[in-house]
Amino acid sequence: MFPLNDTLKTIHKRHSVRRFTEQDVSDEQIRLLLQAANEAPSAHNQQSWKFIVIRNTKKQELAQLVTGRSGEFPKPASALLRMAARSILSAPIVIAVANTGDLIEHGTQLFKIEKEMAKDFFRTMEIQSSAAAVENMLIAATALGLATVWLGILFLIKDDILQFLGEPKGEFMAVIPVGYAERTGTGPQKEPFEMKVKYLE
Ligand SMILES: Cc1cc2nc3c(=O)[nH]c(=O)nc-3n(C[C@H](O)[C@H](O)[C@H](O)COP(=O)(O)O)c2cc1C
Repeated sequence: MFPLNDTLKTIHKRHSVRRFTEQDVSDEQIRLLLQAANEAPSAHNQQSWKFIVIRNTKKQELAQLVTGRSGEFPKPASALLRMAARSILSAPIVIAVANTGDLIEHGTQLFKIEKEMAKDFFRTMEIQSSAAAVENMLIAATALGLATVWLGILFLIKDDILQFLGEPKGEFMAVIPVGYAERTGTGPQKEPFEMKVKYLE
């Protein structure tokens, strides 16, 4: 079998962590995470993402916002929102990712297809591009010995989150607490990839 190199080992090692130690994340580490995210492929190379680094008082405010709104949702969703708030509080830093909407605006003019179809197409392209950036960030964090979790549940309160981030015209992508894992461990078992593959030849 082909031996795993460092990149493949890092991909294999990445798993979600929801509780962090008090150890801080340095500015240099943050810079490396942002740089890795920014290296991601993007549709039309539009790089239609924005990264917002949240620390200190603003991080507390974000956790409060999430906890405050959690009560408006039925039990499973409210529990997940409260869990997300605890992860945000526990991590020394949080990085949010939002789409700018630039590609949607640009692309719709660029392609001469019907407006609604163009909007749908470019919105999807923006989401896929930012998802690639988020994954780059998670992998880079793992390579630096850091831990992360991709919080998608905040989509439920996306308008408030975007307002909080100062990106009211953007689209919510992810909120990612970053820090050192409170406990060592591995993530859940994945189904064998063979179950997900078919070959057409
Ligand atoms: C789009 C997306 C949204 C997610 N949202 C949440 C979330 O809101 N809360 C959470 O605890 N984990 C969230 N996760 C993490 C998943 O629960 C996790 O990736 C999955 O259970 C597999 O575990 P692993 O990351 O350790 O491999 C999300 C992951 C993705 C890709």
